[in-house]
Amino acid sequence: MTDGPAHHPAAEFTRRFGPWALVAGASDGTGEAYARELARRGLDVVLLARRTAVLADLAASIEAQHGVRTATITADLTDPRIGAVVEQGLDGREIGLLVVNAGAVHGADHFLDRPLGSVLSLVDLNCRAPVTLAHLLGVPMRRRGRGGIVIMSSMAMTAGAAFNATYCASKAFEVILAEALWNELQPQGVDVMSVVAGATDTPSMQRSIDSWSTQDGVMDASELVVGALDHLGAGPTFVPGEANRAAARFLWPGSRVQVSQLMSEATASMYGLDHVPARGRDYFEDAPSA
Ligand SMILES: NC(=O)c1ccc[n+]([C@@H]2O[C@H](COP(=O)([O-])OP(=O)(O)OC[C@H]3O[C@@H](n4cnc5c(N)ncnc54)[C@H](OP(=O)(O)O)[C@@H]3O)[C@@H](O)[C@H]2O)c1
Repeated sequence: MTDGPAHHPAAEFTRRFGPWALVAGASDGTGEAYARELARRGLDVVLLARRTAVLADLAASIEAQHGVRTATITADLTDPRIGAVVEQGLDGREIGLLVVNAGAVHGADHFLDRPLGSVLSLVDLNCRAPVTLAHLLGVPMRRRGRGGIVIMSSMAMTAGAAFNATYCASKAFEVILAEALWNELQPQGVDVMSVVAGATDTPSMQRSIDSWSTQDGVMDASELVVGALDHLGAGPTFVPGEANRAAARFLWPGSRVQVSQLMSEATASMYGLDHVPARGRDYFEDAPSA
């Protein structure tokens, strides 16, 4: 692990993103890794997922290891009342950093052979939930003039792949949402970023695909999380791992920072809004170790 983020030096991290972080989809894998790393960096953490007992064990382990406060919310992010459920579960705690982690797909199939309910449930998880949580917690962040929002996406967002239509489309939704909010909220002190993950070793994927952990190029969840949190504030998108960045450069070429600026300016001028340009770097400009 590195010792503190590159863009926001260690002492600044808790000031910018404290006191509490909410990790949505926190019980294992990259969600657990985010929770542990944020606690290591000094934040109190609220852990949200569906399995109450797993969350309780993780909360106890984090408190014992890092001496921070924890809280848990048992909730399903596809619940149409998720905003109200989270608001009640937070019980007034001040969230300085939101991590929307849950959102993997398990199995691949023809779009028309999947039940519509299961397709729409993925839309709820990857579109409705991030929008709801970013809105719920972004409003107080903007009022305070500080905060951060991290949304986990996937390399699947780079193209519409057969047998994975809703996953690819919903992961692209997350990247574009984060890009727009990065541009809009940076001048108001709130850092927004999507994380475009490649294959990563998580219990969820181990259950889904045999020998997942030993496949070529599968990244360690903690390594991904350290890189992502180090990048927060540097640009709209982070692609963890050099091999993934090289693949993304081929699949998703061009400067996203420039495109986001151009489209923001065009939208602002069409509707007579003031636009303060956001500043940042593209994912392919990251140092080899990031
Ligand atoms: N692993 C990879 O190879 C990979 C690759 C690219 C992108 N990603 C992205 O990384 C993120 C994490 O992926 P993952 O592999 O760790 O698997 P995941 O199945 O998305 O997430 C696991 C975590 O989210 C929770 N969760 C799942 N569905 C939930 C729901 N409906 N409501 C509340 N919590 C829920 C799970 O806990 P409970 O079961 O206790 O609810 C668990 O803590 C996803 O957004 C995924 O798209 C992963």
